[in-house]
Amino acid sequence: MSEHQLTKDSQTRTLRSWILGFHATHILNVGGRCGYFAELTRRGGAAFSKDLAAALGLDPWRTEVWCRAACTVGVLGYDDARGYTFAPFMDEVLAEDAPDLSMTHTLVSLSRDFFDYPEAFRTGATKPFSSHDADFFSYQGKVSAQRAPLILSVARQLPGMEERLRSGGAMMDVGSGSGTVLAAFAEAFPQCRVTGVEPLPFFQDMSRQMLHSRGLADRVHIEANGGEGMQFAQRFDLITMVQVFHELPDGAKSDILRRCHQSLKPGGMLLLVDRCSPATGADLRNRRFTMSILEQWFEVTWGNIVNTRSEILTMLNDSGFTVSQENADLVPTYWTFVAEK
Ligand SMILES: C[S@@+](CC[C@H](N)C(=O)[O-])C[C@H]1O[C@@H](n2cnc3c(N)ncnc32)[C@H](O)[C@@H]1O
Repeated sequence: MSEHQLTKDSQTRTLRSWILGFHATHILNVGGRCGYFAELTRRGGAAFSKDLAAALGLDPWRTEVWCRAACTVGVLGYDDARGYTFAPFMDEVLAEDAPDLSMTHTLVSLSRDFFDYPEAFRTGATKPFSSHDADFFSYQGKVSAQRAPLILSVARQLPGMEERLRSGGAMMDVGSGSGTVLAAFAEAFPQCRVTGVEPLPFFQDMSRQMLHSRGLADRVHIEANGGEGMQFAQRFDLITMVQVFHELPDGAKSDILRRCHQSLKPGGMLLLVDRCSPATGADLRNRRFTMSILEQWFEVTWGNIVNTRSEILTMLNDSGFTVSQENADLVPTYWTFVAEK
């Protein structure tokens, strides 16, 4: 609808759709956490609420109320003969560990921060990423795990990189989180030496366990450190930094980029994937910036700053890099910068 067609009624309907979205988000979150979607799937996609409740050891009346609510927001349907069913395609979209369901759990987990926003906006208090809890970290880890194959595929397309990594090169992932990028490279390139840099003990443990279970523990080294502590000289062919740059302390970003530059071999590349904040008024209405703007919103009390694309380019150039590629489509909703030494 163009702006001149807007009416008070249409604007009210817009607000009400956001409020409905609030309920829908929580209905999805509870459905995933209670196991309703998984149980419905186990039962071939249809069940009466009393059977769901019995199978999961949950309250039958509350389960019935959840099912009705899931129907009213279009996630489930109802059939007199079979009971509650998935609405079309929702069995796939809401499968266990499916991206949108994991994202819902992550967002509901971090939405606990919003209660403190009014006070924090007054006092400037921060609650950094690292002081969140295991629930948030584990869902965040699942969400980012889904990006690992894409990061590997983007890296493979960098000029000469496949050959370098295949023939005994080395790669490092800075801010390696749950370790899935590390595992993807270690599995794809058996001769490649793989290093993760990760300051958070929760993620160090999570990635070590995952690497152990995939038989990769001996081939991947994790530095229990922030990027501020990296001290490598010309060691790596490739450095990846995925959804980490905006998490770095603002005053440390340039220093960490310089350390990345020092760590790369001549001709080595930094693959930096992150959000870019809007630089103009028009950007505020450009859907390309929506997730960047929202990420800054839900991380504003963490102390994080999402930089603009030109700020990132300046920092890369000042750290000695030559930016050879910039792309806003390779990793959807993120900007991808390829910076060469
Ligand atoms: C949003 S997570 C992304 C994790 C991972 N790169 C991924 O895509 O799955 C941000 C990561 O940056 C890490 N981090 C925060 N501060 C850091 C720092 N100073 N140096 C290196 N990593 C940092 C966090 O611990 C966390 O693992």
